[in-house]
Amino acid sequence: MSSIRASETSRRKIDHVNAALHEDVGYHTRTAGFERYDLVYQALPEIGRADIDTSTTLFGRRLAMPFIISPITGGTPEAAAINRTLAQAAARFGVAMGVGSQRAALEDPSLEYTYRVRDIAPDILLFANLGAVQLNYGHGVESCVRAVEMIEADALILHLNPLQESIQSQGDTDFRNLAHKISEVREAINVPVMVKEVGHGISERAARLLVDAGVDAIDVAGAGGTSWAKVESFCAVDTSQRALGSMLGEWGISTVDSLLAVRAISPHITVIASGGVRTGEDIAKSIALGANAAAMALPMLQCASLGRNALFAKIAQIQEELATIMFCTGSKSIEELKSACIDTISTAK
Ligand code: FNR
Repeated sequence: MSSIRASETSRRKIDHVNAALHEDVGYHTRTAGFERYDLVYQALPEIGRADIDTSTTLFGRRLAMPFIISPITGGTPEAAAINRTLAQAAARFGVAMGVGSQRAALEDPSLEYTYRVRDIAPDILLFANLGAVQLNYGHGVESCVRAVEMIEADALILHLNPLQESIQSQGDTDFRNLAHKISEVREAINVPVMVKEVGHGISERAARLLVDAGVDAIDVAGAGGTSWAKVESFCAVDTSQRALGSMLGEWGISTVDSLLAVRAISPHITVIASGGVRTGEDIAKSIALGANAAAMALPMLQCASLGRNALFAKIAQIQEELATIMFCTGSKSIEELKSACIDTISTAK
């Protein structure tokens, strides 16, 4: 691959981080859907606060809580610093983490260091990352294996982003036959494969294709948090691409709707709730609604940009919220939280 293409990929990474941090890239007319539900408060939980255990197992690894720092970045020196801050936090709090798309480093190996974090986070559950559409643009099983080996990852995330690619000028929009290619990757690679969206959600139909393809997990990355149509709209130079991104920026399947749709397709597949997850309460609701864990991108990036201490404080607060909600719903463990009472809040006036 040409180094011009690689440097374009890297420049786009900086643009994405800047747009996410400084522009209004959230949804306004659509929410992730957590406000539609309430965990039922139990005044008599019959357990001690000290007995709460927020830990869980994901892909055979123990996590201190069911939480993943979503894939965000890589490919530039600034991105390397962000990944290292995120990895320090993941190691300190015993949570999982994904790096951003490794395409830049597959095209230019001098960028590999911007994704590597094992020296400071030897034991975390770590996800490699590549756009699934790249399977139609010269990257096959071998690239997936290289992405995993590059960072000594425990699992591979392939992200789906047809709307995002449509807003990018010269985006990669050939999504033909991808379900089959994902199944080939799954068969050939010896780590679990998780497929995620980037903020517009996974439909029931997409979930069925992915389950049939044999993927190990689905991260719904639904609508209600960061809108990638909006991020790309802010990054676009071309005015018609800008308009397209802004026009379609509110589109997608709400995170909760997507979570319920995927769970309805498969009662056993590992499902991650993300897209607009913002609090420990959102994580608790995700678990009660059927997710195995939840993930956040933008809040992690915002705190990491303020420094390590801000990020540590944020994750500590999230854990505290989760533990408090577990206590006040009478759920000693994540297993018990799964069956906590959750009510639909009526929106009727
Ligand atoms: C992302 N996201 C993302 N996802 C992915 O699979 N690979 C990637 O390279 C990136 N890059 C990226 C950059 C930036 C700056 C942000 C904010 C996000 C998407 C991310 O993992 C997540 O799915 C969405 O952002 C929705 O979650 P939040 O932000 O609403 O918590």
